[in-house]
Formats: sequence, structure tokens, C-alpha cells
Amino acid sequence: MTPVPFQAEHVQALALRGHGDLNSASYELFRITDAPAARGWLGAIADRVSYLETEKQDKREASPARRKTRLQVALTAQGMAELGLKAHLATFPIEFQLGMAARAHALGDERDEIQSWDYGSGNKPIHVMLLLFAGTDEEVAAFARAEIEEAERRGLTHFATQTTLRYESKDRIFEHFGFRDGLVQPSIDLEGHSVRADDGTPGPDPSHKVPLGEVVLGQLNAYKYRTIGPSVPNSLDARGFLPDFLSSGRKDLGAHGTYLVLRKLEQDVAGFWLAIDRAAESLGVDPEWLAAKMVGRWKNGSAVVNHPNEPGPPPVKDTPGISFASDRHGFRCPVGAHIRRSNPRDDLGDDVGKSLELVGRHRLIRRGRVYGPRLADSRKDDGKKRGLVFITVGASIRRQFEFVQNLWVTNTTFRGLNGEDDPVVGPRCPAFFGAGKSTHAEQTSPFSLQAHPVQSVVPALPRFVTMRGGDYFFLPSVPALRFIAAL
Ligand code: HEM
Repeated sequence: MTPVPFQAEHVQALALRGHGDLNSASYELFRITDAPAARGWLGAIADRVSYLETEKQDKREASPARRKTRLQVALTAQGMAELGLKAHLATFPIEFQLGMAARAHALGDERDEIQSWDYGSGNKPIHVMLLLFAGTDEEVAAFARAEIEEAERRGLTHFATQTTLRYESKDRIFEHFGFRDGLVQPSIDLEGHSVRADDGTPGPDPSHKVPLGEVVLGQLNAYKYRTIGPSVPNSLDARGFLPDFLSSGRKDLGAHGTYLVLRKLEQDVAGFWLAIDRAAESLGVDPEWLAAKMVGRWKNGSAVVNHPNEPGPPPVKDTPGISFASDRHGFRCPVGAHIRRSNPRDDLGDDVGKSLELVGRHRLIRRGRVYGPRLADSRKDDGKKRGLVFITVGASIRRQFEFVQNLWVTNTTFRGLNGEDDPVVGPRCPAFFGAGKSTHAEQTSPFSLQAHPVQSVVPALPRFVTMRGGDYFFLPSVPALRFIAAL
């Protein structure tokens, strides 16, 4: 199937770039209160939104002023309905139509907790999210003030700000448990397109590239098909903003757009390290060693599968990729470790090539940033809230995020394990454990450390990560924004 002719300037930049050169970010959440006014606002946003720059443009326009702030805009299904697309929502994938809260059963989220989410459920639905990026916290705050004021004058009500913690340096990002993060991203195959490559990571990515259609709708995906997006009848696009859809009489609303998943994941840092201290003591091992086995990387980012007993040098741009097929039994890196579950690489089945091909259909492009202050003493809770604003973008929420969360991260029988979920981020969902405890907070998970001749098991890891809000979004192309504005 022929892809839509690719036009970089139609794609919101976040699809392929993490804006890692801008150290501060805030995410502003809105509801639409006056649809016609909000459509006008969206049209103006289309002029300011940050889009992918081609290499040529980039050289020409790389002035410091241009780089100071960047803005992306994302819409939920409810937001699209408010803006006038209710009758066409059925052309979106079902998980997007339903929204994240309604997918709790697949994601391991606790129904009772959903009621108290900070946003994205019950009486706190999100319609629109602005993602704002700037060099400093002061700049991002001023940027946000101006954007909120403008939006509130034009049909939207601002109801929440999700702040993030400023990056100290984009090449040395640490999440709150203390581990280097943002290391591995799939590299997108941009051959034939002069788009500036992703700037997000130092990137020791082992595996093959994923096709552009894994991120951008309308392009060829890992199945060599054009990634199908939502569509509208020709009659709705009188001004011809959108390209033709596959079937005649329809226009492609999805082309050059992508989807975005937002999850606010609160981390219990002291709880994590105290539980590890207890388990490490009973096993007679070093807590840092046990924590590294749970993550699959040492705190400095070196891979446990390559450095099973002590940290290796921190990864740099040219650090070779890692293979789990060389450690089938998990003697070096436990098979249930976080990075092994979330990207099993060459270790699904016996055929390495086939495994890479299959895993290539479920890669996540991560755009998360941490929120909340650092904990001064990792073993002493200070009562403050902190965690990860997990964001991933991709052409299919179901095949990418939901698949990884459901079949790998929360799967209690992953790779033949028996009744354990991800040791670090697992939701401890009682339903996934069978006859478990009644709430996520009561449920624990074992963690197996494979060894020969006798493996050891940490019997009961509590939950360390709690879901506090989020939703599924569509990140429309620039022409799609103009189309919606003109409805
Ligand atoms: C608070 C929650 C989380 C924490 C603290 C966390 C932490 C980490 C760390 C330390 C790494 C290794 C560094 C790197 O490769 O960039 C990592 C990698 C990764 N995580 Fe998470 N993570 C969290 C939630 C999640 C969730 C919910 C998912 C997916 C559903 C996920 C998917 C991934 C993926 C795909 C990788 C890259 C693995 C690889 O390719 O090697 N993470 N995470």
C-alpha cells in the first residue's frame, strides 16, 4: 500500500525528537468550554506548534531565538468530540476512543484508585494537553502563563499543570530510584527523508531500525503496510487540508500524526530501597547488586547482562548493543528484569532474527521526564510526591504501549516465570496474580534470580510505582490541526 508522501513539516516534532536540548518542560491540561472559540484557538496553535525540521531547514533556521521554546498539542477522544468530530471518532482505534481509565483491566490499574487520579478520569477528564519546553524553569513558567492566558481567553479552561524536574544534563538523566534513564530508544529508519535524526539519547541501541510508520501514521510500518489512521468524508474537508485516504471519498485525518500515552507514575523511593535492603540482607548480597538485577542495568547505566557482578563503564554513544540471547537462562541478567521485559530484544524464542523482527513491532519511543524533588536520603521518606511522567509516542497504542504493559511488564508468566510481575514498575495487580490479595497495595510479587545449580528468590516485593493519572492522546499533524480549526 502506498504511503502518504512524507512531509516533515507536517509532523509535530515530538514524534521523532525528545526536545532533550531544552531542559525544562511542563504539561498543561485543559477542558474545552466553548467549542467554536476553541477551534479558533487551535488554528492559532497550528502556527506556533513545533514541527520536524529537515536538515536543510535546520541549518538555515537554527537561530538561538527559534530554539528557546517549543510547543506541542495533543487531543483526547473527548477533546476531539468537543471540537466537533464526535461522529467520526469510530474511525479511531478502540483503545483511543475509550481512553486510558477504561482500559484499566488491560493495564493493571486499580479501579478504586482511578477515582482519585490527579487527571484523566471521572470528574477530571482531559480534552487538550499542551506540552511546553524551554531552556530554564523560569522560561517554561513564563511560556506556560502566556499560553494558559491565551487558551482561557479562547474557549478552554485550564485545570492542571504537570510540572517536571529540570534535566541536569540531557546526556545524564536519572530517574528517582537513582538509575540512569533515557538510554535506549528505537532508531527510526529515516532513509530517503532528510529529517533531522532523534536527539533524545546517547543511544546504545542494539537492534535494527524500526520503520517510520511505527511512529508516523500514513507511512510504512513494521508489517510493510501503510499505518492506517482515522479518516473523515471528503465533504468535511472543503478546504483540502488533508491527503486522500485509502478508500475513495474519504480524507486521511491521521496522516503525519501519531498517538501519545501519558502516565503519571508515582515512585516510592524509600520503600524501594528499604525493601531491597531487607531482601539483600536475607540473600547475603549487596543492595546495589540486587537493585541492578531488578532493573537490568547498574545505576550508571551499564548493562547487567554484560557486567553481571559489578558496574561496567557508563554507556556512551558507541557502546555496543546488548543481547539477551547470549544469556538465555538469565544467569547474568534475570529474565524478569525491567529492561528485559520491556524490550526482550533477541530473546523471544530460539530464532534470534525472528525475535528481533517480532520485538520490532512493539518498541516504545519514550519521552518521559521525572517530576518532584530528589529525595535527599534514599532510605528516608520526606513525604513529598515524586515519580516519572511516562510518555510514549507511536502509531498504535494497542500494539506498542498496551502490548508491552500487558504482555511483558505486568505478565506474571513472562518467559516461563511463575507468578511474578516487573520487579521495579509492576503494578502488583491482584487480578493478574490469580488468588492474590485484594488491593494492589497489599499484593506482593516474588522476583527470581536464575542461577545454576540453585536459583534464589526474593519472596515478596511490594509495589513501588503507583499510577496517579493519564490518558491516551492523538498528536495531529499540522494540517490536521488546521482542518479541525476550520470545522
Ligand atoms: C516509574 C516507572 C519507571 C521507571 C523508574 C523506569 C526505569 C527505567 C530504567 C532505569 C530504564 C533503563 C534505562 C534506559 O534504557 O533508558 C528503563 C528502560 C525502559 N523502560 Fe522503564 N521505567 C518505568 C516505567 C516503565 C513503563 C511503565 C514501561 C512500559 C510500559 C517502561 C518501558 C521501558 C523501556 C521500553 C525501556 C528500554 C528498555 C531497553 O530497550 O533496554 N518503563 N526504565
